Amino acid sequence: MGPILSTSGLRSGYGTGDVLQNVSIEVNPGEIVGVLGRNGMGKSTLMRTAIGLLRARAGKVVFEGEDITRESADLRARRGIGYVPQGREIFPHLTVLENLQIGRLVNAGRGRYALDEVYQWFPFLRERERQRGGTLSGGQQEMLAIARALVNGPSLLLLDEPSDGVQPSIVQEIGAFIVDLVARKAIAVLLVEQNIDLIQTAVHRAYVLEKGSVVANLESDDIRDTERLTEFLSV
Ligand SMILES: Nc1ncnc2c1ncn2[C@@H]1O[C@H](COP(=O)(O)OP(=O)(O)OP(=O)(O)O)[C@@H](O)[C@H]1O
Ligand SMILES: [Mg+2]
Repeated sequence: MGPILSTSGLRSGYGTGDVLQNVSIEVNPGEIVGVLGRNGMGKSTLMRTAIGLLRARAGKVVFEGEDITRESADLRARRGIGYVPQGREIFPHLTVLENLQIGRLVNAGRGRYALDEVYQWFPFLRERERQRGGTLSGGQQEMLAIARALVNGPSLLLLDEPSDGVQPSIVQEIGAFIVDLVARKAIAVLLVEQNIDLIQTAVHRAYVLEKGSVVANLESDDIRDTERLTEFLSV
């Protein structure tokens, strides 16, 4: 079986400037692949280009063997790519349940709506079903955003800095959750992170971005080496 996701020679950016230059990465089934790098190096830009919120100016995005480079973000979501943006972007004035139902709308017609399963993963969401999203803590909002992506049963999850603005105990919980998810379901994860604990808990191998290019590939030994890892992060 080939990779779930691959990019080759990817170039993208904003306005007249390019951010990503010749970015080629792969995510294989069952893998949790990290995207590391200091602030402003292009990590979120890579995620946006992978999900289709940003157009590729050159290169290709291939998902489950099919070239999706020209497809819209909603088509990619329907194919089974779940995306959790940096800063979560839940709807604060909608209830928890309404936020989850919005996740479902993204995939209207695909026929998978795993609300009960998501409630099993995160029981507090069922208890707070009628509460507004904005009343949850940062960590709980992150879990809601992950749950919103998971209600559609994606085969690939793009997670952009889930630890951002989340207290340390909850960061650990999220790390454990990601590991558990991949152990139990046929899903792969592309994980942007700067939090050392979360990276060392969850990530199997990683790409390092610097000024929009991949400058290093880290294997599990490199990831366990905290000093080496720190070189590639803003900490
Ligand atoms: N919407 C935008 N319009 C114009 N430039 C942008 C936009 N978003 C990001 N950039 C620029 O693109 C570059 C890469 O930004 P990106 O958000 O991908 O970095 P990042 O690695 O995710 O950083 P961080 O760790 O701070 O989240 C930066 O120079 C940034 O200023
Ligand atoms: Mg970012």
